[in-house]
Order: sequence, then structure tokens, then C-alpha cells
Amino acid sequence: MVSSRPKKKSHEPVLREEVLKFLDPKPGDVVVDATVGSAGHAAAILKCLGRRGRLVGIDQDPEAVRRAQRKLKGFKGAEVVQSNFNHIDEILERLNLDAVDAVLLDVGLSTEQLEAAGRGFSFLKEGPLDMRMNPEGPLRARDLVNDLSQGELEKLLRAHGEGRWAGRIARAILRRRARQPIETTRELREVIEEAVPRRFHFGRLHPATRTFQALRIRVNDELGALEETLPKALRVLRPGGRIAVISFHSLEDRIVKQAFREGARQGILEILTKKPVEAGPGEVERNPRSRSAKLRAARKAALPGE
Ligand SMILES: C[S@@+](CC[C@H](N)C(=O)[O-])C[C@H]1O[C@@H](n2cnc3c(N)ncnc32)[C@H](O)[C@@H]1O
Repeated sequence: MVSSRPKKKSHEPVLREEVLKFLDPKPGDVVVDATVGSAGHAAAILKCLGRRGRLVGIDQDPEAVRRAQRKLKGFKGAEVVQSNFNHIDEILERLNLDAVDAVLLDVGLSTEQLEAAGRGFSFLKEGPLDMRMNPEGPLRARDLVNDLSQGELEKLLRAHGEGRWAGRIARAILRRRARQPIETTRELREVIEEAVPRRFHFGRLHPATRTFQALRIRVNDELGALEETLPKALRVLRPGGRIAVISFHSLEDRIVKQAFREGARQGILEILTKKPVEAGPGEVERNPRSRSAKLRAARKAALPGE
């Protein structure tokens, strides 16, 4: 019998083969997947680690942790921890791991998070304006939308790439919330659609895309967490160990580029990707999310004689 229930969309790991190439996981290695999500990359890495290898998965979203634990049940060397990845050093210390062979960061959202209407990440799904990856986090998107001043909202949208319409969107938000607070993704989407002239609604991006992305990045302090974590990740790598970072926003990619350059300047890092690696047309067609992915990788300098 053919089921008529629509198939739930699940996350497809981006640039999987390239990640494996740069991290080069080998039997017995210890690897941290600091954004374990739906464990697509983690499962592929674990297959290379053999029986003695270990993979520590981190995610701040408890639903992702449960999903990853289910997916990795068959791998003895896998453990998944719920935490912000900016605690990577403390997590490894607690697990008695002084140094690891590889670290992966695949920042941003998973398909499952985007698809869950109740999380409020998507303007295509009706839900509360929440957007917290960690549901215990202190700030929701509705707090920003209803409490920031017009100037702060405009600045936030502008900083995250909503150049042209930032002022109009901020003004429209203030007008709408003067009547009643904006509480749902649909309400915010309507405000944005009214603020942006109709002839600009049909470009490559929906007019609400950048506003939703800007709010999400601020709610989860995504740039701050990345900036704080990269130096820690480099510290926990053993000499010769490798790091790969996939980002989806130019501000994130800039943070990665600068952290790697600084490491190279200090002589502790060899950059393996002169330019960021992007998905090819085949992958973009199969998985449109990969369109904006940028992968950078580096290797920690080996000790003299290694
Ligand atoms: C793009 S998904 C990762 C998908 C994963 N590589 C896979 O193959 O399934 C990003 C994940 O990172 C998590 N995340 C993002 N920022 C985080 C942070 N600062 N600390 C911990 N987890 C974070 C999100 O909750 C999400 O589950």
C-alpha cells in the first residue's frame, strides 16, 4: 500500500565529501562535530573512525540532540552533548580529552528546525516568533521585534544585509506594533510584504528572507558564538589536527576567514582552502540549501619533527 502522508523533509549534510576530504578522519581518531544537528556529517565521519575512534557531537537544540542520539545509536564511539559550542573546551575537559584530531562546525539551521512551525524560524510556516535554537535561551525574536527602537531595528537589519528596505521595514514594524504586538511569523511576514514594494517581491529571495535571518542570528548570538569558539577550537586541536567550518552568511564567513588568517599569521595554522569551497551545481540542484554554503578548512601546525 502506498502511504499518502507527505514525507517529512530531513536534513541533508552539505559538502559531505569535501568535509571528509579536509578533515581526513582515520581509524582511532577523536573528532568533535560541534553542530551535530541531524548527524549526517557525524555518521559519515564515524564510519571512518573504526572501533577505537570517538566522536563527540554538540548541539544546543535538545531536539537535535535526541535526533542525533537516535541516528548514532549503532556507533559505540559516539556521544552527544547538549550545549552551546562555545563551551567546547569545558566539554572536552569533562570527557577527559586533552586534544582532538578534528573539529567540524556546520553553523546555521537544520532542515528539521526550519520545517518545525512551532520553532518560528520560517516565514513560510505559521508559528510563534521564537527562533531560539536553545529553547531555554533568554531572547525570542518577538522580543526584538516588539522591544527594539526603530533605529536599533533598522541597524540590525542593515548589519545583516537588508540594505535597501531596512528603514521601511523598521518603520512598518513600529506602526504595526503600536496597534498590537507582533507575535507570529505570519504577522511579521505580512508587515514586511506591505513595507517592500510589490514589484520587488519576486526576486531570487522572498522579501522576508533577510529580516528573518537577521533576527535569528541575533536571537542566538550566532556571530558572537562563532567568534568566541574558533580560537577555542584551534586550541583543542592536537598539532596536525584539522578544522572545517561551513557557513551560510557572509558575516560568518568573514569571521572564519579572519580567525584562520590570524592563526596563519601566528604560524599555528596552515590554511587548506585558499578560497572557500562551494557546492557544485549537482549538489545545489539536489539540496538548494547548499547554494550559499562556504567551507573553509585549516590544519594546525605540527610539532617540529612530526
Ligand atoms: C546546519 S545544522 C548541522 C547539520 C549537521 N551537520 C548534519 O549533518 O545533520 C546546524 C546545527 O548546529 C546547531 N547550532 C548552531 N549554533 C550552535 C551553537 N552556538 N552551539 C551549539 N549548536 C549550535 C543548530 O542547533 C543545528 O542543529
